[in-house]
Amino acid sequence: MSSTPSPTRQLTAGSTRVTLFDPFAGPPRINSARRVGVRPGTELIHPLAVTGERPLRFEVDGLPEGLTADADGILRGTAPGEPGDHEIRVRVSNAVGTSEATVQICVGSVLALTPPMGWNSWNVYGERVTAEVIVKTAEQMVANGMRDLGYQYVNIDDHWHADSRADDGAPLANPDTFPGGIRPVADALHALGLKLGIYSDAAHLTCGKCFGGFGYEKIDATSYAAWGADLLKYDYCYAPRDRASAKARYTAMSQALKATDRSIVFSVCEWGRRKPWLWAKDVGGSYWRTTLDIFDTFSWLFFGVRGIAHRNLKLADYAGPGAWNDPDMLLIGNRGRGHVTSRLKIGPKGRSTIKLRGLDDAEALSHMTLWAMMAAPLLASHDLATGNDLDTALLTNPHVLAVNQDGLGQQGRKVRSAPGVWQLVKPLANGGVAISFTNVTRMPRTVEADISGLVPTGELMVIDAWSGEELGDVRSLAAKLGRHESVMYVARPVGAATA
Ligand code: GAL
Repeated sequence: MSSTPSPTRQLTAGSTRVTLFDPFAGPPRINSARRVGVRPGTELIHPLAVTGERPLRFEVDGLPEGLTADADGILRGTAPGEPGDHEIRVRVSNAVGTSEATVQICVGSVLALTPPMGWNSWNVYGERVTAEVIVKTAEQMVANGMRDLGYQYVNIDDHWHADSRADDGAPLANPDTFPGGIRPVADALHALGLKLGIYSDAAHLTCGKCFGGFGYEKIDATSYAAWGADLLKYDYCYAPRDRASAKARYTAMSQALKATDRSIVFSVCEWGRRKPWLWAKDVGGSYWRTTLDIFDTFSWLFFGVRGIAHRNLKLADYAGPGAWNDPDMLLIGNRGRGHVTSRLKIGPKGRSTIKLRGLDDAEALSHMTLWAMMAAPLLASHDLATGNDLDTALLTNPHVLAVNQDGLGQQGRKVRSAPGVWQLVKPLANGGVAISFTNVTRMPRTVEADISGLVPTGELMVIDAWSGEELGDVRSLAAKLGRHESVMYVARPVGAATA
């Protein structure tokens, strides 16, 4: 049995070593989340997400009636009609090895048992999103291995809409940019084993002034389900300021979604203004934005990675399986090219614009480290054709993604550490722990930490997550961190599962 990914190229982000793993080389590694939520009697599409040399041979035992695994390891079918957990045993072999894992299909009301992973159109395409962009991105996610590392959702954000609804009130897609409507897009994604996300707003208009969902919850939810949607991001522009109204409006849409025959993850996007961590879970939200929109910068006040992480880190108590704090999408790969994220509007009425250069290599690595450690939804949002090798390495590191997707579902917490260095600790389901250090200052810092009090007793295997190097049974960690650099380690009891 083997689960060590196959390294291909050694890169650096600042002084941090990063390995670019080839997702199609080496022995099989099962990257799927170990717990998958689905509502009773609804469609399940779930890729077992296996990297390694092709061809792969899948053996899946214990699937409940109604579900099958296809030759690409994608579970498909209809979930059992009654709530309950089903353990399936997965064995995958190829010419160089075999890997085994147990995956739980949890039939019930809770979806997103691990943070959703995928892609969203907004940061890079803004109002220019089209059906072609969505399908092309989905194909790229299969071709570049992202699907096999666990990325599943391809989310259409604002501006998919026609100018107005149909005469009967049904939502309509823009006939120029989505010529066949949304359904063929969902079909194309589902055929690849991926899922479709759609977007609306709890008012009469969306933030981009397309028609919103308020008052049309039932017909919208029914239409989204008929189109094959698997996720709805529900924004809050043009809606009343108070929390009671927000709760009522999110409840109305969540109930409409639950009345459909699909499992639709509900993403609450009111930017943290009404403390959604206190109520969004109760109104059916699977994750909720905790801040305003992220911009492509590390340290620009609260718009950048550091400010957003600073706020999100304080909310660790509220995160858990099925209910995640969302510090907004990933900027990795944008490098200042994002149509939306690289232009920060400031001043009276936002009349002045600052052009942002984007994250440098070390900052991009720190961004991914923090989001993985915070159990944040991982939604890439760049043109997948333009990311360089380092961006790919940052988005597809199996050790880092396994920490984010860990079944215990704990958000990493800040523990005491050196001034200017954030030390985060995230307990893992296998009894181990992930530990990261981020230098949030512009000056070099030295980190020396005795981790004995943080890790389990007994023999340990510590790995450097970004390089994949096995460090053995060590209890003290030391690193020199340049401006905005991070390091990340995973310590697991010897003999425990790697993920
Ligand atoms: C914002 C939201 C962004 C994006 C945008 C679309 O309110 O935070 O993520 O969805 O609206 O107009």
